[in-house]
Amino acid sequence: MSPQPQAAVGAPLSRVDGRLKVTGKAQYAADFDPDGVVHAVVVDSTVALGRITGIDARAAEAQPGVLTVISHLNAPTLEYRDNPGGYNPPGRRLRAFQDDQILFHGQPVAVVVATTLEVAQHAADLVEVEYELRKPTTDMSGSPAGGTPQNYARGDAAAALDSAAVRMDMTYGLARNHHNAMEPHATVARWDGDRLTVWDKTQWVQGTRNELAAVFGIPQDSVRVISPFVGGAFGNASRVWPQTTIAAVAAREAKRPVKLALTREQLYFHVGYRPTYEYRVRVGSDRRGRVTGMIHDLRSETSRYETHGEPILSLGQMLYDTPNVRMTHRSVPLDVNTPTWMRGPGYATASYAVESAMDELAYEVGVDPIELRLRNEPEDDPSDGLPFSTRRLRECLATGAREFGWNRRNPRPRSTRDGDWLIGTGMAAGAYHTRRDPAQASVRLDADGTALVQSAASDMGPGTYTSMTQVAADALGLTMRNVTFRLGDSLMPPAPLQGGSKTMASVGSAVQDGCDKLRQQAIKLAVEDERSPLYGVDPADVVVRGGRLHVRDNPVRGETYRQLMARNNRTRLEANGSYTPGEEVERFSTHAYAATFAEVAVDARLGLVRVRRMLGVYDAGRIISPKLADSQALGAMVGGIGTALLEHTVTDHRDGRIVNANLADYLVPVNADVPDLRAIYLEGEDTEADPLGVKGLGEVVQVGVAPAVANAVFHATGRRIRELPITAEVML
Ligand code: MOS
Repeated sequence: MSPQPQAAVGAPLSRVDGRLKVTGKAQYAADFDPDGVVHAVVVDSTVALGRITGIDARAAEAQPGVLTVISHLNAPTLEYRDNPGGYNPPGRRLRAFQDDQILFHGQPVAVVVATTLEVAQHAADLVEVEYELRKPTTDMSGSPAGGTPQNYARGDAAAALDSAAVRMDMTYGLARNHHNAMEPHATVARWDGDRLTVWDKTQWVQGTRNELAAVFGIPQDSVRVISPFVGGAFGNASRVWPQTTIAAVAAREAKRPVKLALTREQLYFHVGYRPTYEYRVRVGSDRRGRVTGMIHDLRSETSRYETHGEPILSLGQMLYDTPNVRMTHRSVPLDVNTPTWMRGPGYATASYAVESAMDELAYEVGVDPIELRLRNEPEDDPSDGLPFSTRRLRECLATGAREFGWNRRNPRPRSTRDGDWLIGTGMAAGAYHTRRDPAQASVRLDADGTALVQSAASDMGPGTYTSMTQVAADALGLTMRNVTFRLGDSLMPPAPLQGGSKTMASVGSAVQDGCDKLRQQAIKLAVEDERSPLYGVDPADVVVRGGRLHVRDNPVRGETYRQLMARNNRTRLEANGSYTPGEEVERFSTHAYAATFAEVAVDARLGLVRVRRMLGVYDAGRIISPKLADSQALGAMVGGIGTALLEHTVTDHRDGRIVNANLADYLVPVNADVPDLRAIYLEGEDTEADPLGVKGLGEVVQVGVAPAVANAVFHATGRRIRELPITAEVML
């Protein structure tokens, strides 16, 4: 097979769906309006723990236009079968309206269905719910852990610490963060007899299909999930939340299609969040900063009904060549809803503790923070002994240092001023595991020379429509304009969750495989066709470019797909592509790497922290779509600035209510908070990772951002804040 010329892959193209998005033509879940659609509004619990003793829906039901009010008093019993291939955490998932128990503040207790949204909203306000109240516990500090701890050990960390020349003991805290994607979670559900169609905000149409089938106890084939556009998700549309089930229940009971969109406020408790963590790190090192032992003790919040899990221990296991490591993570069950994955889950959280600790160690032993990391750089993955497929963290650090101007820095904290502002710089390393899952894609080439490629993937924002079109265009030898990529329908060929940064590797490899097969099919047709100018040519010598097949070294000899298909009376050519991760997954440790640099200014009197510039340098393998890569990297820096300086979900522990469940009081970075950001990608590919040579980008870019900012705050002020977010109040 002759390698195809790469014209689209690697080119800084704009989103192919950009026009649809900016003109409002892109259809998000709540934009679908099936005939006869009616509206649902959920009534939420106003207590955090207890049980419902009464529901009076008479006033609501009396409103003209109200079709039904559903609660545990009249809801159908749902099967809630196990869903083994899904991503429900261990425990017993929240069951919509199946009993009178209240497990957290804001839990759905009833749903009102009405002919208009306004009537449904008004009627929802009229539903009277009475509770028997118990005192909730929502504060993790001081609350006991539950269940079995998650442990890891290599070597003898306690002994290593005992005998270490330098010993440090730090505890870091991370506040709860909410995803706050622009698009609220929304579902439109319609039953046609026993068949359910759902338009949903989801990162995984087939996962949502499977979960709904399990909840309703119906065959997976009876459920279709459609989700062509997602307005940001960051992990929060990975699993099915109650509102999707509630919409389907409401549609069945009302015998009408039902639309249910959560309010901004409901996004703080109907769906998950990045959990609160306490992360204690004890470090032992020699006087030159070689780390000999590390002990990590972590606690994080979860609900009483499920134990949230995420790869929280992974980064601390593999980032540095520490021979002795012990880790314990305990979950603390509270009267809250279940947390979930949020961009770079585990890794991003751990990076704040690990990379702050490394920074603290660097100052303690008087070694430059970058040099300290280089001194602890492993040759093989210390967690499993596997060779790295590629690990170019050294290059990320060196490139970053050069481009950021690190050597102009005075290493002494609180040494640089600009008027009232204290200036500091900080950095952090990061890594994120390269994940891959089986995926399939279908490819069709029509007689007019245009192609349609489909896979049941999602595009929550990274630009999957665009990057898949790029891969397909080059593999088929077509221009971008002549290729259409479709996704977001569970009837399409299988694709995994768009999560764990695995879409490009998994779906992209399937797309490439399908397009390669189709191209080879066309080449075979040509070289075996006596009337083709390519007759008799070795197929390995034929490439396709701009829709024209030709001899690689003799471009004059060839013909177009259109000519070939017309002459052979073919209306279409079709192929199916697939990708299955192979034994390379077991043979190599494959991760993407990041080095993030930040410069901050801290107002010496007001405590205000401003980020002045940031740079990220990434070893993420091949970059398919550089412009969209930038939108991932720069967006993650913005998110990391939020985690470091602003974002903090605040719960009133007296009653378990979230008090800042809105975008006025829950602060996220806005334009004025975001300085010049720059991303650099090391050139090259990881030939072991997957056929495309990519290592995943969407999450590694988030790992290390918050600690880079926090470390810069220390360098600016000489004050080490071990609690995120670092707000002005904290600095004062
Ligand atoms: Mo990501 S948190 O795996 O969507």
